[in-house]
Amino acid sequence: MRDRWLLVTTWLLLSAAGQAMAEGGPSSSDASPLEDGERIYLQYCASCHGPQGEGMPNWERQNAQGELPAPPHGPEGHTWKHSDAMLYRIVSEGWRDPWNKTERLTMPAFKDLLSPAEIRDVVNYLKTLWTPEQQRHQAEESEGAPFPMQSE
Ligand code: HEC
Repeated sequence: MRDRWLLVTTWLLLSAAGQAMAEGGPSSSDASPLEDGERIYLQYCASCHGPQGEGMPNWERQNAQGELPAPPHGPEGHTWKHSDAMLYRIVSEGWRDPWNKTERLTMPAFKDLLSPAEIRDVVNYLKTLWTPEQQRHQAEESEGAPFPMQSE
C-alpha cells in the first residue's frame, strides 16, 4: 500500500514538472521584429499615443473640436479588443470615431509610410502592452480575422 502511494506521488510530481516545462519553454517570438515594432512605434505613433502607450489626457471624451483624443494602447484602453485584421486596417487606412464632429481621420493612415511587414510589427509590439488575459482574448478574436495575407 505504501509503495503504491509512493508511485502515485512520484507520477504526480513528474507530470507536474513536465507540464511546467512545456508552459515555461522559450518564447516562440523572434525578438527582432518586436524591436522593429518598438522603433516604428516610437517614431510614428508615440507623439499621439504616448511613449509608453499611455494615450492623451481625457481620451475617453471628445475634446473642444468634438474629436476623440488618441487612446492608450495598454490594459486600460481598448486596442486589445480588436482583431489583427481590424488593427491592421486601422493603422493602414486610418480611423475616426463615427461620432466625431469633424470628418478628418484623426488616426492617420500609414499605408504610404509603412510597409505591410512594418504595420504587422508595430501591431505585434502593441500586444506587449496588454495583460496575458487580454493577449489570449485578442489571439482568439484574431483566429477568424488574421492579418491580411501578403507577399511582403
Ligand atoms: C496624429 C496623432 C496620431 C498618430 C501619429 C497615431 N495615432 Fe493612432 N489614433 C489617433 C487617434 C486620435 C485615435 C482615435 C480615433 C477615434 O477613435 O476617433 C487613434 C486610434 C488608434 C487605434 C485604435 C485604438 C482603439 O482602441 O480603438 C490604433 C490601434 C492606433 N491608433 C494605432 C496607432 C499606431 C500603431 C500608430 C503609429 C503607426 C498611430 N496610431 C499613430 C491618433 C494618432
